[in-house]
Amino acid sequence: MNTNELREKYLEFFKGKGHQRISSASLLPENDPTTLFTSSGMQPMVPYLLGEKHPLGVRITNSQKCFRTQDIEEVGDNRHTTFFEMLGNWSLGDYFKEEQISWFFEFITKVVGLDPDRIYVTVFQGKENLNIPRDEKSAKIWQELFVSAGVSSKIVGDPEFGMQNGRIFYYDESKNWWSMCGKPEKMPVGQLGGPDTEVFWDFGEELGLHKKSHWAGESCHPNCDCGRFMEIGNNVFMEYIKTNLGFELLPQKNVDFGGGLERIMAAKNNVPDVFLIDIFDKMRQTLERLSGKNYSSAEVQESFRVIMDHLRAATFLISDGACPSNKDQGYFTRRLVRRAVRFANKIGIEGNFCGELADSVINYYITTYPELSQNKDTILSELLKEEEKFRKTLQTGLKILRTQMRVQDPKSGQKLDFVDVSDGYVPTKLDAKFLFNMYQTYGFDFEASIEEIKQLPKRSLLQNEIENLKNGFNEELKKHQELSRKGAEQKFKGGMADDGEMSIKYHTATHLLHSALREVLGDRVEQKGSNITSERLRFDFSHSEKLTEEEIQKVERFVNKAIESNLQTSFKEMVVEEAKSQGAIGLFGDRYGDKVKVYTIGDGSQIASKEICGGPHVESTGGLGKFRIKKQESVSAGVRRIKAILE
Ligand code: SER
Repeated sequence: MNTNELREKYLEFFKGKGHQRISSASLLPENDPTTLFTSSGMQPMVPYLLGEKHPLGVRITNSQKCFRTQDIEEVGDNRHTTFFEMLGNWSLGDYFKEEQISWFFEFITKVVGLDPDRIYVTVFQGKENLNIPRDEKSAKIWQELFVSAGVSSKIVGDPEFGMQNGRIFYYDESKNWWSMCGKPEKMPVGQLGGPDTEVFWDFGEELGLHKKSHWAGESCHPNCDCGRFMEIGNNVFMEYIKTNLGFELLPQKNVDFGGGLERIMAAKNNVPDVFLIDIFDKMRQTLERLSGKNYSSAEVQESFRVIMDHLRAATFLISDGACPSNKDQGYFTRRLVRRAVRFANKIGIEGNFCGELADSVINYYITTYPELSQNKDTILSELLKEEEKFRKTLQTGLKILRTQMRVQDPKSGQKLDFVDVSDGYVPTKLDAKFLFNMYQTYGFDFEASIEEIKQLPKRSLLQNEIENLKNGFNEELKKHQELSRKGAEQKFKGGMADDGEMSIKYHTATHLLHSALREVLGDRVEQKGSNITSERLRFDFSHSEKLTEEEIQKVERFVNKAIESNLQTSFKEMVVEEAKSQGAIGLFGDRYGDKVKVYTIGDGSQIASKEICGGPHVESTGGLGKFRIKKQESVSAGVRRIKAILE
């Protein structure tokens, strides 16, 4: 069985239990400004867990693409990946503990064929002061299942004393409570949470033996991080909501199950390394060929893993619309690609290679995630652009970093390459300005410089030193952004290259187009970019499909009608909140400051557009001419571009 087959088997199994299959949501959450990425299967399901009716009923199953930024620096061991697929099955106020636990056990032991004797589980020990009881029900269900499978089934209350021949272990809320913000006390009011029961695969006691603390007598247990156990699935009983008064039961009891597809595959293979499952075969072979080194050799393994993980993640992120950039989601894509290039450099890969790896990713998922092949050109060109850009400065950057970090002889003041600092040599002081320059000039993001510095001989950095540097770095960044913003505002007032009469007309036409697109395609459409010359307008907006001929005509008609009606334009200054409440569209955010200008085209019952904008605009639309869309194209996944003229 390969990983693609495993995913299908899971979805089929739950279809057999009355579930409807839905496809994965995007890695970039829609309509959720609180988070940059989809990092669990649960995120897109929140409204339904809260009680909204799902159009497909009360039993849903899916495999959700997930990306976790907090794992970037963890990647390199045998199990952490930033991108992964989470298998999910959902009971929206329907079945509960009994069915969930027995079905998942049936799936892994009967369908996947895992040996029940190598499966261990954990359950919630309860939290008295929050009135959340110990999950004895789940423990009992598990016990019966293990008994029926003919293996031991002892319940253990104190995992810190080790395995104690146990099978089922109680843990506190740091391990067996699930919410998007972790422990109950960290959750904001209004958030969902619940006790969970987690399932672990035992790769064998030998694996834990390398851990030094085990030699010193520290005991091993399912949540120990020695490498022996790997979590493969988590059954969350989502039945609580945090309120001002504490935890209250939701009107419906939900099940949120999340299983790590790649990890279940690793358990099935009984190979404790997720990077050895078939998904990564082709990438691994390519890296071996390009570097001339073998994955199994210890000194390159971390680099191989980082590169494979990061480029798989970047491929999916670009496909979902996060092209490498300096901000928001794109900043993470940039970090991933650059980190992959740095690690490739360490194992001797000096030519461009990202495209070749991305190609294997696209091919692997060709039937499951067809969007990858649809966006192939964008993915490959964005990766190449980023890789080439970074490669230009990588070697110089590394050299500068090493030179700056040399130690200094306190007597002669001479700088030396890393000698023993305990001999009285002083390490050069590291300051935020230097790190910011590494970013500005050499493309080393903060984390990259820190990571490289930590690896220099005789150089270590304390956590609080890193935090201070990060604050300093952010201050530099802010100063810089303010300066460049001022520059940009002067150069491109409202996105215009010159402010001749024609450009002003195009600017007003752009507002009408923005409104028209929302009218015809729906309110999801948002401006992603605008560029105006005296010859044409160019407008980028969020939308994934090509516009049909009919939609194009509707958009043109909307704009031309507004022009023919000779609507007056006017503006008012107001605070952002008021603008929003009046339904003004446009780019909201602090870059406009507190007070913004809201331009309205039309008045009374005939308002064709209301948008936050710095102007300028024509006084009335009558003289704009005839609006015609000349061209539409795709800029990247989920973003389309229209070029239009006024005749
Ligand atoms: N929400 C849980 C998790 O992310 C299970 O899906 O682990």
